[in-house]
Amino acid sequence: MPLPTITPRPDLYDDAERWSVDQMRSEQLSRLQTAVRRCYDNVGHYRRKFDERGLHPDDITSLEDIRLLPFTTKADLRDNYPFDMLAVPRKQCVRIHASSGTTGRPTVVGYTQGDIDMWANLVARSLRAAGTQPGDMVHVAYGYGLFTGGLGAHYGAERLGCTVIPVSGGQTEKQIQLIQDFQPDVIMVTPSYFLSLIDYVKSQGLDPAETSLKIGVFGAEPWTEAMRDEVEATCQMHATDIYGLSEMMGPGVAQECVETKDGLTLWEDHFYPEIIDPITEEPMPDGEEGELVLTAMTREAMPVLRYRTRDLTRLLPGTARPSFRRMAKITGRSDDLMIVRGVNVFPTQIEEIVLKIDGLAPYFQCVLTRPGRMDQLTVNVEGKPGLDQARRDAIAKEIAQQIKSRIGTTAQVVVLAEGGVERSVGKARRIVDHRDLT
Ligand code: DLL
Repeated sequence: MPLPTITPRPDLYDDAERWSVDQMRSEQLSRLQTAVRRCYDNVGHYRRKFDERGLHPDDITSLEDIRLLPFTTKADLRDNYPFDMLAVPRKQCVRIHASSGTTGRPTVVGYTQGDIDMWANLVARSLRAAGTQPGDMVHVAYGYGLFTGGLGAHYGAERLGCTVIPVSGGQTEKQIQLIQDFQPDVIMVTPSYFLSLIDYVKSQGLDPAETSLKIGVFGAEPWTEAMRDEVEATCQMHATDIYGLSEMMGPGVAQECVETKDGLTLWEDHFYPEIIDPITEEPMPDGEEGELVLTAMTREAMPVLRYRTRDLTRLLPGTARPSFRRMAKITGRSDDLMIVRGVNVFPTQIEEIVLKIDGLAPYFQCVLTRPGRMDQLTVNVEGKPGLDQARRDAIAKEIAQQIKSRIGTTAQVVVLAEGGVERSVGKARRIVDHRDLT
């Protein structure tokens, strides 16, 4: 069956989507200069960093000069907890979000009314790029709260002129009932939670291809082309990727265009991208994989210069929106890199293998232990109902062989019964590291 037909709406493009590359570069330079000036004049952290380097905002006279600016890391944001990174008095912030790290203090992000407007516009643009039309119904299953997913999606969908169903994450049974009763066109949700929703639909004896959903806008965690194939085939809907992070604003920093599905168009009229070597911090040319560094050029409450995202990707030339560069799907975060006996392994590589094997549910978790001196990687996967022991053993062997031949490391693979792998209602936990305990 063909996927639903989507009508592109160039008539609704923002001005920036019609810019030439030259116009883009010239706007970027003036926006960058404004952001640098705002940081220097209003944020003690940046003023100190600039002064240490003998750098002044007037030194930024071309886009290449961005390399003179200091990087900003998550540690810088934590050190300035809660409000010292703000470039405006706290009273001018109409909203605060926070991203909980795995340890310690959360990262706090403030927004002026202007920032909330800009964010809504960019999520609206992203939804439109995904194929959403004004008047569509959008089911938001990203969590609402300090996490930016729910409210970011919500304001953007409203801005585009959609009917928003603000469900938030969790309560799977209710989510499905609302989808059946309201018949939404679009769902915004983490890809891992969407898989749980599909499972529930199937467990009710229903066919996921029969829902009203035409478009999924999936993000907040890495997912693969294999996952796209699985979702599109099972649900007869378009699966598109949305990227973002709290430190820049939230979802809507980049979005895949439904007409090409070839990586995410980076909204670089607001976020200036660079790729660096994460070890040497040297800039890398477009096309090469490294760490994404982003500068929030138009944020009022919290402009952030050269933020080290830890996300690994490549910058590619524009396609569906020619003057915007694209970023390849994120392969992982440098924090998610598992070094198993010297071999680099990302959970996305395991996902590519698991999703291609018949008889398995699309869930997996990587468990790291250190029984002796050596790291041990155990990959827990989950069999579909009715799998006998012989088939489970055969699948475990096949996955282990593929991990060995395609990634180059030895892993123990365990095929668990249905429900054996932990489910998420937000971001999935792909790595459980017990190495300190063993
Ligand atoms: O996850 C914002 C968001 C919400 C994006 C909903 C998309 C949809 P944080 O909680 O601050 O913000 O986490 C940001 O999540 O640095 C990436 O490592 C990861 N991430 C976000 N989107 C994607 C994606 C939100 N499409 C961190 N693919 C980022 C891969 C993603 N990783």
